[in-house]
Amino acid sequence: MNSSRVLTPDLAARMAEIEPFHVVVLVTRAKELEAQGRSIVSMVIGEPDLPTAAPIAEAGIAAIRAGQVRYTQGLGTTALRQAIAGWYRTRYGIDVPYGRVGVMPGSSGALLIAMGVLLDPGDEVLMADPSYPCNRHFVRAMEGRAVCLPVGPESAYQLTADMVDRHWSPRTRAVMLASPSNPTGTIIPFDELRAIHEVVRRRGGTLIVDEIYHGLTYGEPDRSVLEIADDVFVINSFSKYFGMTGWRLGWLVAPEAYMDAVEKLAQNLFISASDIAQQAAIAAFSPEAVRIHEERREAFRAQRDFLLPRLRKLGFDIPVEPQGAFYLYANCEKITNDSYAFCLDVLENAGVAITPGLDFGTHGASRHVRFSYPKPIDVLAEGVDRLERYLRSR
Ligand SMILES: Cc1ncc(COP(=O)(O)O)c(C=O)c1O
Repeated sequence: MNSSRVLTPDLAARMAEIEPFHVVVLVTRAKELEAQGRSIVSMVIGEPDLPTAAPIAEAGIAAIRAGQVRYTQGLGTTALRQAIAGWYRTRYGIDVPYGRVGVMPGSSGALLIAMGVLLDPGDEVLMADPSYPCNRHFVRAMEGRAVCLPVGPESAYQLTADMVDRHWSPRTRAVMLASPSNPTGTIIPFDELRAIHEVVRRRGGTLIVDEIYHGLTYGEPDRSVLEIADDVFVINSFSKYFGMTGWRLGWLVAPEAYMDAVEKLAQNLFISASDIAQQAAIAAFSPEAVRIHEERREAFRAQRDFLLPRLRKLGFDIPVEPQGAFYLYANCEKITNDSYAFCLDVLENAGVAITPGLDFGTHGASRHVRFSYPKPIDVLAEGVDRLERYLRSR
């Protein structure tokens, strides 16, 4: 065995550009502290600590009991694809043929497939900074180049049609949006979405919209970009609104002309998404399950309404009230100019875990932190009290 190779493996060049989640350092430290008996209020992970809704869990258990758990078609079972098409009809009033729906292992699988069928080496994808960090890595994994455009409160931390137009280059192939966004929870106004689509269409590129936080919105009803056009890629998931993070199931809606390529690549990369999860997910659309999802959404709204004013009072600046997801993205420059060191210190000395801005890009990263708030209000209250004591004692 060549030991020097073990110590310094010849990694592919792309690996130098794929970053880990920086917050893992904090999560590991939080676990150590908990093992030592410390209590930690964690507002880090992008998922509620709630069980999967009973009708879904029961359907999953029934699938296992029946023993018919196999590979499925590469694009997912017809029953689930039809159920997703049915959701677009009942929830959004739009007609999406199930043939354009591909069921994937999480929206993560859907994002990888989207980049795989769209990008040639060196092709550019415009996206916001800050945004979900894996997006630039999916692009890099498929040999494309993520072009991260700094955004701030003036555009609710989202790209605008004007920005997309100004930054379009001969290498631009696609524009990646997420609405509501992670980490900011902000939504692109529907007219702006229409204008962005128009720019992308005129420029001859493809618009990809991550709608994973649809359902978790607290203002107007959700409107999908599929209402505007068919020539877009839509990414969605059972993880967030449907509360199924660990089941690893999501979907993509692509233009008809791409579906053969989507199927071919998904078959090769995954064979299929989990059959158990697919059988369970059909129950996610049942009226009983939707009632549970809606109750949870109301609880998240109350949690946001509790946490937002209290953080502002502590000196965190949250200029745009987020209308969706379950995150508050806060400017902490009145408190620190190094949000990463701040998060480590807050964990050690206040027993509160939050995510540093560094995990979402580079623009203003050292001045921002993200709070993930789907927690019971008494837990959030304890977190805020600890932060207040910590900030007073500094
Ligand atoms: C914006 C966004 N897109 C995609 C994902 C991936 O989710 P999943 O693979 O669980 O569907 C996440 C997870 O947090 C996210 O925040």
